[in-house]
Amino acid sequence: MTLPVIISCDPGIDDAVALALTFGSPELEVLAVAATAGNVSLEQATANAAALLDLLGVPADFPVHAGAAGPLAGGERVPDEPVHGAGGLGGVKLPVSVRPIESDAVAHMAELILARPGEVTLLALGPLTDVAHLFERFPDTIAALGRLVVMGGAVFVQGNVTLSAEFNFYADPEAAALVLERGRRIRLVPLDVTRKAVVDRPTAERLAALPSPAGEFGAMLLDMCNTMVARGRPDGAVMHDPLAAAVVLDESLLSWEAVTATVELDGTLTRGAVVADARGVSGREPNIRYGRDIAAAGFLTTLTERLTGLGA
Ligand code: BDR
Ligand code: CA
Repeated sequence: MTLPVIISCDPGIDDAVALALTFGSPELEVLAVAATAGNVSLEQATANAAALLDLLGVPADFPVHAGAAGPLAGGERVPDEPVHGAGGLGGVKLPVSVRPIESDAVAHMAELILARPGEVTLLALGPLTDVAHLFERFPDTIAALGRLVVMGGAVFVQGNVTLSAEFNFYADPEAAALVLERGRRIRLVPLDVTRKAVVDRPTAERLAALPSPAGEFGAMLLDMCNTMVARGRPDGAVMHDPLAAAVVLDESLLSWEAVTATVELDGTLTRGAVVADARGVSGREPNIRYGRDIAAAGFLTTLTERLTGLGA
């Protein structure tokens, strides 16, 4: 029995590693990969996703679906701090893919989810624009989704774009607010836990020395270590998206807390921030479970083992 998963991503170095982890996990059946604007433009995210699937040996007729080019409310994409490098994958240049690129990611997601009610996990690793479009255009998918695992938000810690907001939520707060309001069975994997999932430099160096395809992922991780050091931050690559992918495999990696949570849309200092009701004062039923802490060791070991085993 494998677990069916749809991935929405904006690769992005940690998205790339999350793709490697999901495709490198025999427990999972990846039904579709949709690219969205986020770390890079939609065009770049789509090209990166296609090239990464080539690198991972995914059959050539498995398409990449192109999703949203910009936020739900319109306007320009919010550019990410360039920690992923100009092309999104650090200094790693992959051959241009000729894999098919399909449009209307959201309609494809809906078809897959509605065909297997209660079974499919949607793993969202970028801004939530496409998930919001999915819920608006195909509301039946809300109940039909087995689970929605989201990397995003800073619940009780500081943000990474502003003091209060995390990138995926800051890039499209209206989408994040809609998804939190309407979604069910949401597992939020926020900065509160992802900041504790760091690949250190020796591990990145060891992976980078391996033959392809593991070597390319190691090179990306090493690149991120270098960028962090150049910016005066701790040495190491924070594995935001891979931790969310690992949660799809095993929720017991994290301790979970149910809370009522919304996303601030208007604050000049707090746009995109998660506002969570830790004391139950709102009187509303909890609408999400968020990862509060790492509950079990083993994520980094599993990640490095699966990256090392790629192509074996
Ligand atoms: C999130 O933003 C992006 O930079 C990463 O890929 C991750 O999805 C972390 O805030
Ligand atoms: Ca991402």
